[in-house]
Amino acid sequence: STVDWEEAEYDTAGHAHFLIKEITEQPAAVERTLSGRIDERFATAHLGGLNMDAREARAFRRVKILGCGSAYYAGEMGAQLVEELARIPAHAEPASEFRYRNPVIEADTLYIAVSQSGETYDTLAAVQEVKRKGGRVLGVVNTVGSAIARECDGGVYLHAGPEISVASTKAFVSTVVAFALIALHLGRVHDLSPADGARIAAGLKALPGQIREVLEQEKEIAALAAKYARHEGMMFVGRVRGWPVAREGAQKLKEISYVHAEAYPASELKHGPLALISPELPTVAIVPDDELLEKNLTTMGEIRARRGQVLMVGHTRPEAKFTEDVILVPRNEPELDPILLTVPLQLLAYHAAVALERDVDKPRNLAKSVTVE
Ligand code: G6P
Repeated sequence: STVDWEEAEYDTAGHAHFLIKEITEQPAAVERTLSGRIDERFATAHLGGLNMDAREARAFRRVKILGCGSAYYAGEMGAQLVEELARIPAHAEPASEFRYRNPVIEADTLYIAVSQSGETYDTLAAVQEVKRKGGRVLGVVNTVGSAIARECDGGVYLHAGPEISVASTKAFVSTVVAFALIALHLGRVHDLSPADGARIAAGLKALPGQIREVLEQEKEIAALAAKYARHEGMMFVGRVRGWPVAREGAQKLKEISYVHAEAYPASELKHGPLALISPELPTVAIVPDDELLEKNLTTMGEIRARRGQVLMVGHTRPEAKFTEDVILVPRNEPELDPILLTVPLQLLAYHAAVALERDVDKPRNLAKSVTVE
């Protein structure tokens, strides 16, 4: 693969770990992902690399997103963005599952492969399977000229800069931003109004500054991480927009701190995992101030009634009976809120791993890019 990043970037630049350096770089990474891609005049996104005119973009009836690990979870957020903004049914699936199940490839489905490295073997094999059956695949890839980028029919480069730490942070966030651009573009060739397009464009431009505001809370989040890291495990719950946030939050915690973490849709808690709730198993609840706020508070009440501790991540502080521990993030447009809700969970996982003295940048048993089956 051809990687043309500066040698100087392969240095922690005074940070304790690459991971915290990369978390801190997110405002700049998002700026680069957005750079030159917002078209103010038509309230849309300009993405020349898609290699697709408006007529072709309108013809797709479905979107299927493929990736592994955090790339897959970023794809889950991407699927929600595409459905919300373009009203096209969109689903994400682990690329590894997809390639082994003889998937039905349809001409009116747009396939999108997600990969930071562009070298993940299962994702590459999924792309090749789609192409062999005549499907159209776009890539959302960080590494220019990588195997997956070369195999795709077009796509969006993240321009997030090199990501060294095994756990993905800035590439994750840049991927979701790239999906917001794709969803904005697809939305504006369908029925997304100019006013809504402008609303999303403005929300995207506000992200770097708002991510900086979340990063300013690092000290408080580190204290919460030290408190919760001592438990055997943690539950992460969310509804709809909060659900992929919960999944990525659990992924980040388990991969770098080795604390067992499970993510569940908040509404599914009562169908099984509520049996696990006790003072020994705290819950991180992702609770944006949206139409599901009341439902989420009810879930938090149910957890508290079983003497479970709750750490809430959201927009407004609830009554003390629901929880004492709250991390507040700035409000953006509701569709873009998952991006900002993800950032404190990165800091939580990072500081849990530091508190437990883990090998933060090179967790045991994991590799940055898995180029084997
Ligand atoms: C490995 C890494 C993960 C990463 C996944 C996909 O499992 O440990 O952090 O999310 O691969 O990598 P990719 O380069 O395809 O995004």
